[in-house]
Amino acid sequence: MIELLISFLLGLFLFSPATSANASENKLPKCNYPAIYNFGDSNSDTGGSAAAFYPPALPSGETYFHRPAGRASDGRLIIDFIAGDLGLPYLSPYLDSIGSNYRHGANFATGGATVMRPNESWFVNGVSPFNLEIQVEHYTQLKEKTFFFYKDKKKCNRKRMPRPKDFSKALYVIDIGQNDVAAGIRKLSIELQKAALPQIVNQFKVQLQNLYNRGARNFWVHNTGPIGCLPVATVKVQNPVPGYLDKHGCVKSQNDVALEFNKQLKDEIVNLRSQLSEAVIIYVDMYSAKYGLITDAKNQGFEDSFTICCGYHGIGYDVWCGNKGNVNGSEVTGGSCSNPSAVISWDGVHYTEAANRWIATRIVSGSFSDPPVPISRACFYKA
Ligand SMILES: *[C@@H]1O[C@H](CO)[C@@H](O)[C@H](O)[C@H]1NC(C)=O
Ligand SMILES: *[C@@H]1O[C@H](CO)[C@@H](O)[C@H](O)[C@H]1NC(C)=O
Repeated sequence: MIELLISFLLGLFLFSPATSANASENKLPKCNYPAIYNFGDSNSDTGGSAAAFYPPALPSGETYFHRPAGRASDGRLIIDFIAGDLGLPYLSPYLDSIGSNYRHGANFATGGATVMRPNESWFVNGVSPFNLEIQVEHYTQLKEKTFFFYKDKKKCNRKRMPRPKDFSKALYVIDIGQNDVAAGIRKLSIELQKAALPQIVNQFKVQLQNLYNRGARNFWVHNTGPIGCLPVATVKVQNPVPGYLDKHGCVKSQNDVALEFNKQLKDEIVNLRSQLSEAVIIYVDMYSAKYGLITDAKNQGFEDSFTICCGYHGIGYDVWCGNKGNVNGSEVTGGSCSNPSAVISWDGVHYTEAANRWIATRIVSGSFSDPPVPISRACFYKA
């Protein structure tokens, strides 16, 4: 077994990060993670914000759960498909006290969450109080309470709790930064947005280190998506000057900030790999996966790159999915489109279940990862 492992690891040293996932990675053993701990914003919130504040209304959840399931989508999110791929149940939100089960992990993500503290610099109203630092604090409390209560069999129902020995074997998924970039776009000039990025990336790094210091070892980090391709950005554009939109119709300046954030995040992850000697940190190029889908929508089985399935958004109006409002002088309700499975954007900001499935299928295989390891075998990568 030891020889087997060594040869697997040697195989890994030979990878070039530039090549896509191939047969050699698929010879690695499977990690069989006992749990997933997820940190993030609405892209991976499976009901945290809904439990803490107000739940979304129908038609949210209509495709898969047939009820609003605390997710900003008609169905499942990428993190749900990741859990499915790893043979684990969908994650219970840490903030949801009813019906939750943490045996196989927990979800600390909340809609609107930022990397930065909400009270710092340009982060004002409209973001979640559960920023990344607080999510890591919630994780710490969950872990400490688990150890405390586990000592006494009678004190709690162990079946719904994590097992203490599982924390170091779990997969830690992080997908956050989009709201920091979005807050900057709303509040700051392009120069100031770029100047703020090192602070955001530094805070991201500090929190990843905190997780490592508290026992996390296997990290799967998503970079941030092409924010300038979100329909809420593109529908507001009127008579653009040449170059304002890229050749696919996305707002170039917004995507450039996301790309710069991603570049700095990737550099920081390379540094962290050498500092955190027992960590495996996989960097996942979510930007390219989402951009690839949006810019090739028709060939990928979707109608159009920028259609919004639920709600109405245009110049001078925003009626969010599930809400009522006024558009061009008439009262409307933001209901769902007839065929969500052919549309990429659910509500102008978040993706449909069909798009999430498309993206998840590609990232779990390792084709967007550095190094290009499939998620199920990522724990065996050593830098
Ligand atoms: C923001 O809040 C944190 C506590 O959560 C505090 O330590 C920090 O000093 C605050 N920052 C500012 C700029 O007020
Ligand atoms: C509102 O009016 C604008 C301008 O005529 C039009 O482009 C847009 O499609 C209208 N929106 C809806 C939801 O009908």
